[in-house]
Amino acid sequence: MSTAIALDGPAGAGKSSIARRAANELGYIYVDTGALYRTVGLAASLRGIEPVDSPEVDKLLSEIKVELTFNAQGEQIVLLDGRDVSGEIRTPEASMTASKISAIPAVRAYLLDLQRDMAKTNDVIMDGRDIGTVVLPDAKVKIFLTASPEARAQRRYKELIEKGMDVKYEDILQDVITRDYNDSHREIAPLKPAEGSVTVDTTELDFEQSVDKIISVIKENR
Ligand code: DC
Repeated sequence: MSTAIALDGPAGAGKSSIARRAANELGYIYVDTGALYRTVGLAASLRGIEPVDSPEVDKLLSEIKVELTFNAQGEQIVLLDGRDVSGEIRTPEASMTASKISAIPAVRAYLLDLQRDMAKTNDVIMDGRDIGTVVLPDAKVKIFLTASPEARAQRRYKELIEKGMDVKYEDILQDVITRDYNDSHREIAPLKPAEGSVTVDTTELDFEQSVDKIISVIKENR
């Protein structure tokens, strides 16, 4: 039997970098489910389709192929119709489109089996918004990772500036607040702590402390 760790929380709580490191140390595969929503969002943008519940989005879903794979370093690669779009889905525009498109029930249904299949055959740390509540409700350990909106915006800002992007802190903070609202107020699979989850707040923790905390929660509960 494989072991699943569900890691949910708002945008920018550091889920992906913390989970990647923890997975590495514990010998689990790290699965970033946000990349899947971003990829569906990108597919819509490329075809000029609005990220709203519509026959156009239904048609899009019947035409595209989204796949998850891993490179030699064990990093997740996401493919859209066979093309690696892992870099393209990381812009602020792609974040906003992903947040909107993820509220569409047909999109969530479309990505459900793909996520569950990953956990059937692998020990995974799966990062998302509804992993403990919907995708893997029987996960061995469920963690809700959070931090204040300001701390999260500050981290995201630093990341984007380091990548050479021309962004403003105030815009990032506004994006964080808007995305939090969208993600936690949508009707289907809203962001909320799963029953039985352990909440970890990283506002006052640095990266290493956050990784240590997550690893100890996993070890204590798995
Ligand atoms: O984790 P992220 O920022 O890459 O996710 C992008 C968007 O996808 C986010 O706004 C919410 C949505 N998402 C979701 O609804 N459910 C998931 N399991 C993962 C992401």
